[in-house]
Amino acid sequence: MAKAETKMIKNARLSDPDRYYAQLPVWEARLRLWHWGNLFLILLLVLTYLLFDWHKELGLPKPTYVLVEKIHVYIGYAFVLLVLARLHLAFHGQPFSRWKDLDPRHDGKGFLAVMKEEIALHLRPKTDAGGLPIPDPDPGHNRLGRFLYLPLLVLLLPLQALSGILWASLKWGFYPLPFLHTLSPDTGKLAKAVISNIHAAGFYAILGFLALHLGGLVKYELTFASDLFSSMIHGKKILTRQAAREYEEITGEKI
Ligand code: HEM
Repeated sequence: MAKAETKMIKNARLSDPDRYYAQLPVWEARLRLWHWGNLFLILLLVLTYLLFDWHKELGLPKPTYVLVEKIHVYIGYAFVLLVLARLHLAFHGQPFSRWKDLDPRHDGKGFLAVMKEEIALHLRPKTDAGGLPIPDPDPGHNRLGRFLYLPLLVLLLPLQALSGILWASLKWGFYPLPFLHTLSPDTGKLAKAVISNIHAAGFYAILGFLALHLGGLVKYELTFASDLFSSMIHGKKILTRQAAREYEEITGEKI
């Protein structure tokens, strides 16, 4: 991360150094690209799914909705690549893209203890001398948000990608497992029912994640008057003095 970028930036939020101290690069470009690319693909997948699922209501002829179904599969392949790319970053990316920054546990405390602590911290934050709520001390992923990001990246997105691949192979004989299309009718029917139910449940779980994700971000912005939304665009976060100290420890950079 460029050293020049780590210097204090004079703007309204930083004018009170007791509250916000420095604006520092946190999200690497690959992570931001992944984030918005992933949102774009998910929106396309939802749109194509709704089109072929409601083909009767929309009066779409068979060749049209079958084409939309196949387009959904091709976008699904791109989604599989993105999921793999995010897992790659979790092992080999910069410090704030890695597993360590997605794990909510710290100081020997388990998941439940941290969750209780974080909910209290976000609902009833401590206030500073000026009566303003003190933002969380983590420079990277918000610690409460990690309870959503970790299962999303470890379980939900990979399961959705896998069930999509299996569904395409079973129904259309697509790669990577085209032979699944030639299973006996009974086995094929059962497998399709199981896989399509998993895929549909994953779809609703992702919508649930999105609602909690956006709700959490809005609540955070309203409570702490931070710059969380734009941080995923330009990559920098405005940090408290304590978060900036953590940043130095995590990155090994001197601010
Ligand atoms: C309009 C929609 C969205 C907006 C405005 C948005 C915004 C953001 C912001 C500001 C952060 C940083 C939060 C933090 O500091 O902890 C973030 C993180 C994240 N978001 Fe979103 N997001 C959106 C949609 C999505 C979708 C659809 C997904 C996946 C299904 C997603 C997955 C994630 C993940 C996994 C992170 C953590 C960063 C990482 O490790 O990859 N977001 N998002």
